[in-house]
Amino acid sequence: MKDKIAEIKKNSIEEITNCKNLKDLNELRVKYLGKKGELTIILRGMGTVSPEERPIIGSLVNELREEIVNLIQEKEKEFKNQELLKRLESESIDVTEPSKKVDLGTLHPITRTIEEVEEIFLGMGYQIADGPEVEKAIYNFDKLNTPPDHPARDVQDTFYITDDIVLRSQTSPVQARVMENQKPPIKIICPGAVYRSDSVDATHSPVFHQVEGLVVDKNISMADLKGTLEMFAQKCLGENTKIRFRPHHFPFTEPSAEADVSCFVCGGKGCRVCKGEGWIELLGCGEVHPNVLKNCGIDPEVYSGFAFGFGVERIAMAKYGIEDMRLLFENDIRFLKQF
Ligand code: DAH
Repeated sequence: MKDKIAEIKKNSIEEITNCKNLKDLNELRVKYLGKKGELTIILRGMGTVSPEERPIIGSLVNELREEIVNLIQEKEKEFKNQELLKRLESESIDVTEPSKKVDLGTLHPITRTIEEVEEIFLGMGYQIADGPEVEKAIYNFDKLNTPPDHPARDVQDTFYITDDIVLRSQTSPVQARVMENQKPPIKIICPGAVYRSDSVDATHSPVFHQVEGLVVDKNISMADLKGTLEMFAQKCLGENTKIRFRPHHFPFTEPSAEADVSCFVCGGKGCRVCKGEGWIELLGCGEVHPNVLKNCGIDPEVYSGFAFGFGVERIAMAKYGIEDMRLLFENDIRFLKQF
């Protein structure tokens, strides 16, 4: 029995030491330690060993077993390390190799225009406000002094979700939301999408974007409004841009005006962009109507304000020389890549 163990010891050590890969190693594990392995068979045969010899043989077998287990573990580690090294080598990254070209997108001209406008107004101390696109009719109309029989409330212009909820047709409801939540002085702009039931053509889209502006404080006049708009127009469209007011009507301002800018292409002489007029219509504006201030909890005897609202598409089209609004919504990469 002792000889047999010595033989197993010699063979197993030799075979494990010379073993070349994990698969062979596993086979050796089975060969010596498995259920029908050589060492196991010896343990099973202990019954035939005399009682005096049994502990000696037992401890010999156990020692050998431990030795084989350790050897196999070491060998296993060795193989796994080799494998890892091989993998590291084959998967190594050549950081000097030129990279594949990543096709980067560009900002959409609407996004760019909004960011530019925000930048200009932030520079003038304005904050950027936000409001829901699915809006209560009371904010879109009533609080803005637009009574139930006003033509702008007509289903022909406004998308109604229910009788009381609409897709906002203008960014002006944000004025009311801000005034209800903030005490003067207020100085905000609010850019965002608005919805009207217009059919699509070169200058109309059922979804477009506006930027609303609102300033409320003591003694805010039309002169402040004009100065602000002029400053904005010069920064956005060119430093020689002039502003002119034409009288107009909006329910939420009194007096109301439409503001035009001198054509930034021809400087006012008349060209294709301004259709020979020398002026381009820019926005609606005015002094905030006292009823609107009152509806939003601000005392019109103490405070006054101005407001304005303009279409982002119109400005983007003018700035970038885009002649058809549909281009802005078709998302044709060939078009968008130009910006
Ligand atoms: N909300 C108006 C529109 O969509 C634009 C406008 C006009 C906004 C006058 C104003 C304003 O804040 O004072 O046509």
